[in-house]
This record gives sequence, C-alpha cells and structure tokens, in this order.
Amino acid sequence: MTTLGTPLSPHATKVMLLGSGELGKEVLIALQRLGVETIAVDRYDNAPGQQVAHHARTITMSDPAQLKALIEAERPHLVVPEIEAIATPMLEELEAAGTVRVIPTARAARLTMDREGIRVLAAETLGLPTSPYKFCNSLDELQAAIDAGIGYPCIVKPVMSSSGKGQSKIDGPADVQKAWDYAMAGGRVSHGRVIVEGFIDFDYEITQLTVRSVGADGQITTSFCDPIGHVQVSGDYVESWQPHPMHPAALDKSRQIAKAVTDNLGGQGLFGVELFVKGQDVWFSEVSPRPHDTGLVTLCTQHQSEFELHARAILGLPVDTTLRNPGASAVIYGGVEAQGIVFDGVDEALRVPNTDLRLFGKPESFAKRRMGVALARAEDVGTARSNAKLAASKVTPRKA
Ligand SMILES: Nc1ncnc2c1ncn2[C@@H]1O[C@H](COP(=O)(O)OP(=O)(O)O)[C@@H](O)[C@H]1O
Ligand SMILES: [Mg+2]
Repeated sequence: MTTLGTPLSPHATKVMLLGSGELGKEVLIALQRLGVETIAVDRYDNAPGQQVAHHARTITMSDPAQLKALIEAERPHLVVPEIEAIATPMLEELEAAGTVRVIPTARAARLTMDREGIRVLAAETLGLPTSPYKFCNSLDELQAAIDAGIGYPCIVKPVMSSSGKGQSKIDGPADVQKAWDYAMAGGRVSHGRVIVEGFIDFDYEITQLTVRSVGADGQITTSFCDPIGHVQVSGDYVESWQPHPMHPAALDKSRQIAKAVTDNLGGQGLFGVELFVKGQDVWFSEVSPRPHDTGLVTLCTQHQSEFELHARAILGLPVDTTLRNPGASAVIYGGVEAQGIVFDGVDEALRVPNTDLRLFGKPESFAKRRMGVALARAEDVGTARSNAKLAASKVTPRKA
C-alpha cells in the first residue's frame, strides 16, 4: 500500500530532484499535484524546477561531499536524478547505507552517467545489437580504431556529454583531428576519453518510453508508450512526434531490447530507450533512466505524460501509458545570448489550432539553449508536426 503525506508537515513524503531543468520541472509539478514535498537541486539559482518546488538548493552535484551533506541534511525519501553529471558513487554509498532510495537505482544512475557503462552493459553483458564502437584516450588511438574496423563514416562523442555537445561525424581521414579536438572542447568533464561509433544509416530513430511500476500484485510490471519519432540536428533534438508508425517486427524487437535493458537497470520509474531502425533491424543506442527530452511531446498526446508516469511509478502508484491522440513537439531555441530575455509572439503562436507552449523560465539564454517547446495535437502526426513547427516559429526570443 502506498501512503502519501502532507507537504511541509512532519509526515511529508519528500522527493529531491538532482537537476531541475525543463524535464525536472514537469516531474516536480506532477509530484506537487500529489501533495509531495519537493526539493529542487541545480548548479545555478532559479533553475526552471526550482521555480515550482517547495525548496530550492544550489550545489555542485558532481562533488560527492556537497551531495552527501545535502542529502543528509534534507533526508528525502527519494532522490531522483534528472541529469547525468552527478557524483553517482556517492549515491551508491548512501543507498547501500539505507540513507536514501535512488531512482531508479543508484547503480542505474552510475551506469548511464557516461557512455561507457551503458554501452558495455548493452553490447557485451546483454548482447544487444549496437553500432560497432571503441573507446579511445588519444588521437592516435582514435585513428587506430577507425583503421582497425570502425571505418568511415563514423561518429565521435566525448564519453561524458549530452545534447550532441562535442559530437561530430567523420566522413574521411581529413576529419579525424578536427573531431578529436571538438570532442576535447565539448566534453562535460574533460576526461580526454571518447567513443567512436560506426555510423548507422538508419531509416528513422525512436524513443521507446518504458515504465517500471508496481502492479496490483505488488510485483514490478513493465509498460510501453507508443513509439516517439524525432529529428536530431547536430545531436540535439529539434522535433518529436508520437506515434511513429513502425513495422510490427521492428516494434517488437524495440520493446524486447527496451525490456532487456530496463530489467537489468531495475528499480521503479520511466526510461527513455533510444533505438535506430532500418527495415526490420533495430540497434540499441542509449537509455535515460528518467524522462527523455523527445518525450516532451507526451504532454499533449498521452493521458499521463512521461513526467506524470515517472512521478507515479517512483511513488509506487499505477500508471496508464495509453495514447490519447497523435501530437508533435518543436523546440524553441534562445537565439540570443542574454539574461532575462523576453518572448514576442506568444499570442500568435497559440492562435495556431490545437497548440500549447512551455516556456521554461531559464534565467539565461544562449543561441543554442532550449528555452521552450511548442506542442500540437491533431488527427494525424503530419498535421501535428507542421502546427508545432509553425507555433514554435511564431515565438521570438529577444533581449529585453
Ligand atoms: N552510431 C550512430 N550512427 C548514426 N547516427 C548516430 C549514431 N550515434 C548518434 N547518432 C545521432 O546523434 C544523435 C545523438 O547521439 P546520442 O548518442 O544519442 O548522444 P546524446 O547523449 O548527446 O543524446 C542520435 O540521436 C542520432 O541521431
Ligand atoms: Mg541521445
């Protein structure tokens, strides 16, 4: 039986989000609606999720001492990582000591915090199909890996990075040095280590949202959302839609892969399993043990968005992953480098039929920073995609 408390009382159910960006903000709102007391943590003040939580804390989450001190001071029932750059060995220590429960598990947070842990698990331990890959510590090792079998074209990524940062495609020998230098400049923590992957010439890529929740019998049950299609530009998501039509065999393989990975990672919560599809072939790419950016579309397509699903699953509540209607999302980038920007044309955007908007409230804008998203629902994905893009194009961020 799940019992929830009253926030700001001695019997509160307390959840701490580690990372409070736009995805964390929606999880926090879902938790707030269930009367959960929320603590939003980020590396800077006034992060989107901090604006809607009961408590806001600003620390360096990759620093184990700061992380331990905060968790011990706040004593949340659950710690929910929203980003990858966290001192995950410390989370494992605190989980092992019984201090806190980490979502989905501290081990899952550690294995997915860099590209190496999860790739080795998926390809070598679980034997799932992935792109050919090699980890390299130097330009020489990179060149040798390409020559020894990865070949051209290939993709180089820092082992610790997200949203395409430091990632580039190599088409031939002339690009290798440039790709190495770019990875070194773009990695989040400068490990000097990269993954080089053979390029998969896929027909399309999907995110298979997968939920591990507690069923009526008290056992963990796995449920799947409809597949989400998306377009990535320079490794960053710009557009997504749901459902993405798939050959039944490819959908079946996708879900088998998603089940294998999430069974191994364990715990409760929602996962975003990224897959490449060509004909009936499916390759595992990576997984987020948390809501996925392309899943923002579920805010307008499902009875329960990926954020509500995550909130429910982590609290031990039942979930409903059914699709309500087709829909699409389109990203609104900052376009400018400034603090406290304003957005023109919000009214025009919302005049596009069946649309909605999220403006994340990030205090600082960069040209390529995701500042908002337009959402559109429609009878079919084609209409939804064009309306989402149209609505997004009407919003003009600018310096105040
Ligand atoms: N081996 C590959 N072959 C083809 N495209 C790839 C490959 N690896 C990555 N990509 C493209 O780059 C995008 C971002 O790569 P990903 O590994 O998901 O990085 P991130 O962690 O930054 O999301 C993918 O969604 C896909 O479009
Ligand atoms: Mg990705």
